[in-house]
Amino acid sequence: MSKKFIIGNLKMNGSIAFYNELFTNLKEQLRSIDPNNVDIGLCLPYPYLFLAKNSLSNTNIKWGSQNVAKDKRGAFTGEVSAEMILEFESKYVIIGHSERNTAYCESDQNIAEKFLRVKENGMCPVLCVGETLIEREAGMEKKVVRSQLETLIEKHGTNIFENSIIAYEPIWAIGSDMAASPDQAQNMCAFIKEFIGGNLGSKTGQKTLKKLIKVIYGGSVNDKNALQLLSLEDVDGALIGRCSLDAKKFSDICHSAHRN
Ligand code: PGA
Repeated sequence: MSKKFIIGNLKMNGSIAFYNELFTNLKEQLRSIDPNNVDIGLCLPYPYLFLAKNSLSNTNIKWGSQNVAKDKRGAFTGEVSAEMILEFESKYVIIGHSERNTAYCESDQNIAEKFLRVKENGMCPVLCVGETLIEREAGMEKKVVRSQLETLIEKHGTNIFENSIIAYEPIWAIGSDMAASPDQAQNMCAFIKEFIGGNLGSKTGQKTLKKLIKVIYGGSVNDKNALQLLSLEDVDGALIGRCSLDAKKFSDICHSAHRN
């Protein structure tokens, strides 16, 4: 059984009272999960990282942010650096989520810079890739995802993906109650592993990297469809939006991962 990664994306939701309650409930409900089998992470709005550090240290729940600045430090009003995020003992940083790409025009070049900042600080990037509905209907999903990954490979080389997570999130499945079918999720996660593995020279290197690349699925994952999606061969976990706001649903998904 390979280790699964269940990452919550809390988006711009919650309050101090909400997170205090969520953390208390999750600590209780996830207590029996073995961290060797399931890695659990909560990607929070920046102001609540401090709360997470205080409340979740020494538990099996890790935390992190939903974005990071592409620059290291300096005159960048409103930005938050990777170094700052690390100060709160964060483990995960989501990068390139489609909601940021559409609302804030994030380019693949920016995303590549951000990815590097996260790696330089020893945290784990959760890189989101995926196609729109129009692109899927035109049969372009692999072309789109390949080009999103290529910018990173061109800038930093294939090994940058080691100890990183790639989240395949078809944009049409996010917030839509229309999750990808098991076939679609499996095909795309396998494709991502093959593409990255195939960019490595030696056969042994390919094998090792394919093992080290973690590809998770995101987009309308819930407590009902999680078990099936998480049992797919090349799906190493899930990125959870709406259901991460509900302790019971999120913990049910984590328990489904534990059963795989
Ligand atoms: P959803 O969001 O689970 O609410 O579809 C997923 C995401 O945006 O990461």
